[in-house]
Amino acid sequence: MEGSMILALLVLCTGLAAGSEEHAIKDFDFSKFAGLWYEICFAMKAGAPAKDPEAEKIGGVVLQLENGSLILTAAHYEDHCVVEKTTATKKVVPGTFTIIREGGKGNKEVQVLSTDYKTYAVMDIHFMMDNVSHQVMKLYSRSLDHNEKALEKFHEVAQEHGFKEPDFHLLKNDTACVTALQGPV
Ligand SMILES: *[C@@H]1O[C@H](CO)[C@@H](O)[C@H](O)[C@H]1NC(C)=O
Ligand SMILES: *[C@@H]1O[C@H](CO)[C@@H](O)[C@H](O)[C@H]1NC(C)=O
Ligand SMILES: *[C@@H]1O[C@H](CO)[C@@H](O)[C@H](O)[C@H]1NC(C)=O
Repeated sequence: MEGSMILALLVLCTGLAAGSEEHAIKDFDFSKFAGLWYEICFAMKAGAPAKDPEAEKIGGVVLQLENGSLILTAAHYEDHCVVEKTTATKKVVPGTFTIIREGGKGNKEVQVLSTDYKTYAVMDIHFMMDNVSHQVMKLYSRSLDHNEKALEKFHEVAQEHGFKEPDFHLLKNDTACVTALQGPV
């Protein structure tokens, strides 16, 4: 009993660190993870930047494996549609990678916390903005329909990581931006 409480506390504490071994998906397979993902929901704690550039409309990302490195082509809405291609480096912990951003924007540390490869993926993202570190959790889906199960899973995982109901933001189903990703990239 006492042991399980200590374990629960440990899980809570280590959950705050990025790229932790603890939450690693064993046998994570980047080749199965590749392809198109729609971003349909995110969770960000209060006190985070007031204007989240990725808010409102659904975004998306295409992951490609090339010579062992990851190429990400992401689209998000920021007054207008922005499509950005970046390179990421895989790290030692399975399912973790660093997105290298140019222009002094600071890198992003990403960990895939949960995925079944076929329908949903929950990602934990840490980045610096104005010298303050931020954490955002994102729910990605392979489809724009029937995402109830994925949303349920997302709430479960994000709550385990300390996010509360007001932190969740469901994105509007406006595909204006992601259609750019649906063709060949
Ligand atoms: C991957 O490797 C091939 C062959 O070595 C090379 O031609 C190609 O430019 C490389 N691609 C990238 C993105 O580095
Ligand atoms: C961030 O920190 C560095 C080094 O501590 C400092 O030089 C810089 O002015 C800070 N930038 C901002 C935006 O606070
Ligand atoms: C979201 O929009 C797409 C494209 O218009 C549509 O195919 C899909 O059914 C919509 N999903 C929901 C849940 O309304």
